[in-house]
This record gives sequence, structure tokens and C-alpha cells, in this order.
Amino acid sequence: MRTVNVALADRAYPIRIGTGLLGQADLLKPYLKTSRVALVSNEVVAPLHMAKLADALRNAGVTVTEIILPDGEVHKDWNTLNLIFDGLLGARCERSTTVIALGGGVVGDMAGFAASCYQRGVPFIQVPTTLLAQVDSSVGGKTAINHPLGKNMIGAFYQPRLVLADTDTLQTLPDREIRAGLAEVIKYGLIRDLPFLEWLEANLEALLARDPGALIYAVERCCINKAEVVAADETEQGERALLNLGHTFGHAIETGLGFGVWLHGEAVAAGAVMAAELSARLGMLTVSDVQRVRRIHERAGLPVSGPDLGADRYIELMRHDKKVTDGRLRLILLQGIGHGIIHDQAPLGEIEAAIQACCG
Ligand code: NAD
Ligand code: GLY
Repeated sequence: MRTVNVALADRAYPIRIGTGLLGQADLLKPYLKTSRVALVSNEVVAPLHMAKLADALRNAGVTVTEIILPDGEVHKDWNTLNLIFDGLLGARCERSTTVIALGGGVVGDMAGFAASCYQRGVPFIQVPTTLLAQVDSSVGGKTAINHPLGKNMIGAFYQPRLVLADTDTLQTLPDREIRAGLAEVIKYGLIRDLPFLEWLEANLEALLARDPGALIYAVERCCINKAEVVAADETEQGERALLNLGHTFGHAIETGLGFGVWLHGEAVAAGAVMAAELSARLGMLTVSDVQRVRRIHERAGLPVSGPDLGADRYIELMRHDKKVTDGRLRLILLQGIGHGIIHDQAPLGEIEAAIQACCG
């Protein structure tokens, strides 16, 4: 088992990465406040992985309340959030009850948000079961639900006490979800870890084939990158925004098409290519750099162009981005491969041209 620490002073926590972790209650018990937990999952993940974790906890003397949500991004909303509160209140969960999220980013973001406000905040643990959640969403404390007008618009920063990433769970993921997760993996290489990008270029097939060693290495390397960024800028006053490469364009795709039509990682992939194209138009990348960005996403089986919503509609949707400041779009661009920057000076015409060049 590998451990990566998120250094947040009195709220610091470990990320444990390895195989066979779900059945090891002793890994969780030190992080529970009392011997009572609410295990939040969904109707797809629960039948696959819940029993292992719940049985291990029960055998260790922990009382487990199970809360099962409907599956999918389309349910990342107020109604589903309320189902968590219904479950917590119905079982008389207390302020000391630990909420454990077992699932992908949707379950993790919603259970984390519920934990942040149930009785004004209860202990929270992430047990991510998708590649995307293990490399990104379970770490760093961003929690949220969607609003019809925008992605992740309602939420809170609320750190877990522990992240338990059992890479065995990735063996049951659909291929499309593995590919979507790779978009966030590639992101770390593009914004801040060129040697990792080179490793990915050499080992992508092993990851796509779910080689256990390659998966553990990639999850650990991404978590090291994310932990460094989060420790330096927990609430995204600056550097943390770099983790949003491709996301402003991508969120426009997700909102514009309707949540769940494209997977989050798919939208981020097309968005990263748009960001690279814009970077080249502003003189920060070469044509062959853009080709390199396109190629790694293509090899991962990800979309490298967006749906043709029309540049105006993209811009309208992008204006809902949380990074918008004083009405100005702030985008994550690349000043060379491996070096992300926050940029708010791109002329609107260039942004529109980059979108048009990557649509259809
Ligand atoms: P997801 O949670 O919808 O999971 C993808 C699908 O895989 C779902 O159908 C899920 O039920 C299923 N699934 C999960 N684990 C499985 C397993 N082991 N075997 C089989 N099926 C399994 O999607 P995701 O890609 O994990 O997360 C995307 C969400 O994460 C988006 O809402 C995005 O906004 C959010 N996100 C949050 C952060 C953050 O920092 N909080 C970062 C990136 C993304
Ligand atoms: N996924 C972006 C962040 O955690 O900041």
C-alpha cells in the first residue's frame, strides 16, 4: 500500500492507495469518531462493492447505515442530496456519525456536500471507485451539486479525514469510464508534470488494459500532484485553478448538452484540446505541441473535438464559470507542455476561433 499525505495542518489526511483495501476495516477505524457510519453509494456501485466494505466494518463492531442513491450525473442535484439527509435523519445519525462515500465523483461530491452541512458538519471519508475519483475528485475537499444553469455551482470546501483508493474496484469499471478518468490523469502531465506525461505516453496501453501496477503508479502520481496543489492553495485563490485545464470549455459542453450526455472526463478532454488550440493562437504553444495534446487524448480513446453548440453558446455557458472575475473569463492555458498558467487576457475573437477550430 502507498500513502500520500495532504498537508493541511490540523486537517491533514492520508490517501491510501493499493489493492484489497476495501476489506480492511482497520484502515478506516482510526478515522471514525464513533463506531457509527453512514455509507453512501449508488445503485450501480453498491451491488458490486458495498458488501465488502460494510461487512468488514460490521465485523469490526461498527454500526452501518446504508444510503443508496440513483446513479448518474443527471442526479447530482437537490433532490438526491435530500435523499442523503432523509437517510441520515431517518436512521437518527448523530453529529459524530462518519459519512463514507463509496463511488465515483458524483457520489463523492454529493456525500461530501451532505457531510459538510448535516448538523453543521460531520466527519467524512472518501472511498473512490472510479479512476477519475481516485486521481482527482476524492482529494482536496471540493464538494458540490449541479444547477440547471451551471455545473457544480452549489457546494462547499470540506476535506475528508481519509481517502481510501482501492484500485481493485477499477476492474469492474466500464471501458468508457476508464477513458474518462484518463482525461484527468493526462491533465496533471500537461499542467505541471512533464515527466509523468512522458510516462503516460509510454504506458497508456498498460493503463487502458488496467494493469494493476500501472494503475497504482498513475493514481499515486496524480495524488502527489493534487496533494501538493491543494496544500498550497486549498480554496483556489490561485494555483489550484490550474487543475481546471479544459474544464471551462468542458463544463460548457456538459451544461450545453444536458448533464450526463457526455461524461465529465470526455468534456474535459475536448476542453483541453480547445485550451491547447487557444494557447497556440496566443503564441504559447507550437502546432506540434497542440498535435501532441490531441494525440495523447486520441490514444486514450477520448474526444478531441467538442459538439457544435456554436461559439456564442459556448461563450455564454463559459461565463457561468466559477473562475469568472469581474465578468472576465479566466482560462487555464499552456505556456509550453507541462506548464499551465491562469490567463484572463485572451481576446474574445481568439477564444471563439479556438472553439470553432475544435468543434464538429
Ligand atoms: P460517476 O461518479 O458518475 O461514475 C461513473 C459511472 O461509473 C457511474 O455510473 C458509476 O455508478 C459507475 N461506477 C463507479 N464506480 C464503479 C465501479 N468500481 N465499477 C463499475 N461502475 C462504477 O463519475 P466520475 O467520473 O467518477 O465523476 C465525475 C464527477 O466528478 C463529476 O460530477 C465531476 O464534476 C466531479 N468531479 C469533482 C472533482 C472534485 O474535485 N470534487 C474533480 C473532478 C470531477
Ligand atoms: N478538480 C479540480 C480541483 O479539485 O480543484
